[in-house]
Amino acid sequence: MNPTVLAHADLDFNAPLSDARAEELIAALAPLAAAEVVDLGCGWAELLLRLLEAEPTATGIGIDSTAEELSRSRRNAAARGVGARVRLVQDDITNRTETADIVLAIGSSHAWGGTRQALEAIRPRLRRGGRLLFGDGFRAAAQPPNDLGVDMSLAELVELTEKCGYRMLRLATANTDEWDSFESRWCAALEKWLLQNPTAAEHAEVRALVHEHRTRWLREYRGVLGFAYLVLTPDS
Ligand SMILES: C[S@@+](CC[C@H](N)C(=O)[O-])C[C@H]1O[C@@H](n2cnc3c(N)ncnc32)[C@H](O)[C@@H]1O
Repeated sequence: MNPTVLAHADLDFNAPLSDARAEELIAALAPLAAAEVVDLGCGWAELLLRLLEAEPTATGIGIDSTAEELSRSRRNAAARGVGARVRLVQDDITNRTETADIVLAIGSSHAWGGTRQALEAIRPRLRRGGRLLFGDGFRAAAQPPNDLGVDMSLAELVELTEKCGYRMLRLATANTDEWDSFESRWCAALEKWLLQNPTAAEHAEVRALVHEHRTRWLREYRGVLGFAYLVLTPDS
């Protein structure tokens, strides 16, 4: 039992992202006809699978280091009839060198060591005229606690994308409902497991994990941590 994977059981995406916003972002990545799409840090690849469902001529590769999440993505791909158009690969995304028309990188910038490093590493992966959907954190309130791992405002994040050789085509940010849905569903999967497994050896560990997560969310980063979805294209 991997408690972190268990905590994802009730989530649609491993990010504060609603169905409506996912649909808007896929539309903002157009044109998608015959596009080759790479999802770097795909998790269970929900957005990639939705994109492939929306555009029957697109093909995709989803890459992630977590085997359990990839198993979920393979089951979902088969169930939705897009399995033949997607490869789901267990690998370190920082080692990947393929190019694509569309790159998705949502919540995975830490793999490269931070936002700037991620933007720089992904830029050569985009073909001419390609689009990157980049999802990353930003400082939404004036004085965040020091350990949130984000020190940039939204404006600074967008300015950084320009410095790294991109032009912005679309900006969206997760709203409070998306955050609350994401965080409370993360906790709820563990709460359900606690109810169903009262005598399990991991009971105390899982209870402590959900308590810590809920406390950090409500006391430290709710309203302070923002999450941006930027559709970017290479600058020339
Ligand atoms: C916050 S999750 C986002 C998942 C997905 N993009 C989504 O929005 O649902 C970040 C993902 O990056 C993956 N990841 C982190 N570092 C990685 C690395 N070096 N190589 C491959 N995957 C990595 C994690 O396993 C995790 O699934």
